[in-house]
Amino acid sequence: MGAKKNLIVITGGAGGIGQACAQAFRNQPIIITDYSQDQVNKTVESLSNEGFDVSGIACDITDKNDIENLIKFVSEKGALKAMIHTAGVSGTVKDLKKVFTIDLVATELLIDAFYKLAEKGSVAVLLSSMMAHTVPANPEYDKALANPQAGDSFDIVSKFVNGSSDKMYDFAKRGVHLLSHKNATKWGEKGARIVTVSPGVIETPMALKAAAEHPERMEMIKQATPLKRNGQPEDVAGVVQFLTTDAASFITGTDILVDGGVIKVIAKM
Ligand SMILES: NC(=O)c1ccc[n+]([C@@H]2O[C@H](COP(=O)([O-])OP(=O)(O)OC[C@H]3O[C@@H](n4cnc5c(N)ncnc54)[C@H](O)[C@@H]3O)[C@@H](O)[C@H]2O)c1
Repeated sequence: MGAKKNLIVITGGAGGIGQACAQAFRNQPIIITDYSQDQVNKTVESLSNEGFDVSGIACDITDKNDIENLIKFVSEKGALKAMIHTAGVSGTVKDLKKVFTIDLVATELLIDAFYKLAEKGSVAVLLSSMMAHTVPANPEYDKALANPQAGDSFDIVSKFVNGSSDKMYDFAKRGVHLLSHKNATKWGEKGARIVTVSPGVIETPMALKAAAEHPERMEMIKQATPLKRNGQPEDVAGVVQFLTTDAASFITGTDILVDGGVIKVIAKM
């Protein structure tokens, strides 16, 4: 029998940052998952044509049965090296409950499901956002964000976002940070890590859609960025890849900002 494969699982694998992450793992077996089978098939086909060791399965990350099927698919293929969670939606969906459910509740479903596969040396890398850093600590909503599946959590958080789906996105992404803090000890007991990555403006379909809605705000952010440019998906993928390596073996329960330095500048404005 051959050695167990060290699998890299990428949610949102058909998306901008997800595809760039896949490109960063040329020498490791990859499993792509995304919302539709069609998106998954296209991404798997294109990576296979480039010579990657890749397979895929569709999974709506808000659906527990789909997640169970994904876990089964992964466990039959080998051992978990990394779960890179990039699937998500921005505030442009204009539906507070959808943003909360996809960006935060589903993140907890995935953390809990992948915990079963985690072993020594495994890592979960969860995509948050620099916008999470604009939401201050608060005992009331932080408790709800850290426990998104509790019946009253959505209503509690909703009180603080003034009906804005963009604000709900920022809060949900703070929740992703809180989930990594909450789970670090549990994952650590297995010798596994759990880390968040918070990108700034990265030129992917998601960001370009948001940019079309708020062009002046996007220009302001670019001008305020110390590096005077937006990020590219590869800027994030390089950091994600690093976080899966032994060089990052003492990094867990924390967040890595990949924002060109802009959020600290905006905070002072
Ligand atoms: N692009 C940016 O500027 C930026 C900035 C900060 C944070 N982020 C975060 O990075 C991550 C990736 O963003 P991106 O720019 O690559 O976005 P993207 O829209 O290109 O990709 C997101 C992917 O998630 C998938 N998805 C959405 N809902 C799903 C569901 N219910 N089940 C399964 N898959 C689902 C989509 O099909 C899509 O392929 C997101 O979590 C996003 O919030 C992006």
